[in-house]
Amino acid sequence: MSQRDNDIGISQSQIDDLRARALAAATNAYAPYSQFRVGAALLLSDGSMVAGCNVENASYRLTTCAEQSAISSAVTLYGPSIHIQAVVIVNLNNAASQPCGGCRQTIHEFSSPDTEVFFPAADGTLTRSTVADLLPHAFILEESGH
Ligand code: THU
Repeated sequence: MSQRDNDIGISQSQIDDLRARALAAATNAYAPYSQFRVGAALLLSDGSMVAGCNVENASYRLTTCAEQSAISSAVTLYGPSIHIQAVVIVNLNNAASQPCGGCRQTIHEFSSPDTEVFFPAADGTLTRSTVADLLPHAFILEESGH
């Protein structure tokens, strides 16, 4: 059975659990340049949860976003067949923040169009969206055939 077959929908207690894990991960963020501490927690389709934080670099463009850290950890822990059912993103700066374009493509790689993505709105609540809404026309590598 693939992880995809085990999807049963996400509950409020799972959202709360993911949010708590994302907040805990964000406290470990390495963000000396932006001071913007981000955490992300994934719900995989087998029920596993994996979190990550942003890891910045003096060469700014080498920074790893929280979502990407979480996905790297999930693949490391569970292998290349993971399927993401939901993602919760938070920050410790009480700011609205949306997943960046690169993270949308990275999440897309291990998701379905209906994978749910929650991110902080200005009022502190979580905005609920989907991969399909956040990244229409995602890049997909097609074989050229020649
Ligand atoms: N950041 C994330 O971790 N995820 C995003 O989706 C957007 C931005 C981080 C990168 C950098 O360390 C800080 O937020 C400011 O851009």
